[in-house]
Amino acid sequence: MLYWFILSFAFIGTSLGSNFAVGEKFQIVLSGIPNLSKPLFPSDAMVWDVDLEDTSAETIGAMKDLGKTVICYFSAGTYENWRPDSKKFVANDMGTTLREWPNERWLRLTSTNVRNIMKTRIDNAAKKGCDAIDPDNTDAYQNSNGLNMKETDSVAYMQFLASYAKSQGLAIGLKNSLSIIPSLTSVMSFAVNEECAKFGECEAYNNFIKAGKPVYHIEYIAKPPQITAAEKALSCNSKGMEGFSTVMKNMTLSGWVTYCDGSSATTDTTPGGVIPGKPPQHTTLTSTTTKPTSDPTSTLETATDPTTFEITTSIPTTSKTTPKPTSKTSTSTSKKPTTTAANGGGGCISKHWDQCGGKDWKGCTQCASGFQCKGVSPPYYYQCL
Ligand SMILES: *[C@@H]1O[C@H](CO)[C@@H](O)[C@H](O)[C@H]1NC(C)=O
Ligand SMILES: *[C@@H]1O[C@H](CO)[C@@H](O)[C@H](O)[C@H]1NC(C)=O
Repeated sequence: MLYWFILSFAFIGTSLGSNFAVGEKFQIVLSGIPNLSKPLFPSDAMVWDVDLEDTSAETIGAMKDLGKTVICYFSAGTYENWRPDSKKFVANDMGTTLREWPNERWLRLTSTNVRNIMKTRIDNAAKKGCDAIDPDNTDAYQNSNGLNMKETDSVAYMQFLASYAKSQGLAIGLKNSLSIIPSLTSVMSFAVNEECAKFGECEAYNNFIKAGKPVYHIEYIAKPPQITAAEKALSCNSKGMEGFSTVMKNMTLSGWVTYCDGSSATTDTTPGGVIPGKPPQHTTLTSTTTKPTSDPTSTLETATDPTTFEITTSIPTTSKTTPKPTSKTSTSTSKKPTTTAANGGGGCISKHWDQCGGKDWKGCTQCASGFQCKGVSPPYYYQCL
C-alpha cells in the first residue's frame, strides 16, 4: 500500500515535471490558433498559452515536439455561448452577463453541473497533451455576478480544479484573483496575470515567485505594433516584477507580442479561440477649454518615492472599465497608490481606473468626482483611484 502511494506520488511528480520555472520566455495567443505548418515565432518562447477547445491535439503535439510547454486556456468561471459544450449549462448555473463580453455570463462555482462540465474540459486537455490548464474568470467575487459568489467560493473552486487537474497529470495556474493568492500558492504551479503593472499591484506575487512559481505577466498596449516609451517602462520596470515572464500584447491576445528586451514577433495563426470583447468604451468628456500650458510630466516627476506606497485591502466591487481580453474584469484587490499627481487642468475628466497622467500623457488629467489622480508607477503612469 505504502509502496503504491510512493509510486503514484512519484508518477504525478514526474508528469507535472519541472517545466514550470521562473523567468522563462512566454507567449499567449488566444484569438487565433498558432499555425504549426509554419515556423513557430518567437522561436525562443518556451511556454505557450493557447485555447483549449480550438487547438488540435496535432498542433499541441507539434509544439511539444519543439520542446514547448503548452498551457491550455479555457474559461472556467463564465459561460461562453459559442463553445460546443455550452448547451450543457442550465439556467440556474448562470448569473449576470459580463459588461464588455455580451456572449458570456458568470457561472455558479458551487454547481455540480458546472464542475462536471469543467472535469470534461480538463479530461480533454489531458487527452490533447496539454501540460497545464489556465482556467480563467474564476474571480466572480470581484464583480457583480448575480449569484452571490464570494471569495471563499473562488478558493474552493480553484482547489477543486487543481485537485482534478493533478489527478489527470496536469499542472494548473491561477489567473489574476490577487486577493486569493495566499490561499492558493501551495496548490498552483504558476500564475497568469493581466495588467498588474498598470494597476500597481505586481508585488502581490512576491511570495509566489519566492516559492519558485513563475508569473506569466501580460500588459496591454494601446496601439500595437506601436509601443510608447511610457508603456514599455510601465510594463517592464514596475515595482514587484522581478522574475516575471512579461509580454506586451494587443488587447485581442492575437499573435503579435513584444518583450522587455525590445524584441517583437508575430505568431502565425489560423482562426479560432476567444472572441474578442467589445472595444473599450471611453466615455471621457471632451473639453472645449484650453490644454494645460505646463508640461505635466515636470510636475509628476516630483512625486514622492514609490516606496511610500500604502497597501490597502479594499476590494473594488464593480468591474473596471479597462478591457481585459481574458478575465474581462477587475483583477485588482490591493491598490498601492502613491501620491496624488498634480492636475494639469485642461478641463476634461478621466473616470475611475482611467489614466490621468504620466510621461507623454496627453489625455485628461482631472478625475471624476470622488477619485484622485494617483501615481501607480510614477513618473510614467497615473490613474484615477
Ligand atoms: C490589435 O487588435 C485590433 C482589434 O482590436 C486589430 O484591428 C489590430 O490589427 C491588432 N493589431 C495587432 C498588431 O495585432
Ligand atoms: C497554415 O499555414 C500553411 C503554410 O503556409 C498554409 O498553407 C495554411 O493555409 C495555413 N492554415 C490556415 C488554416 O490558415
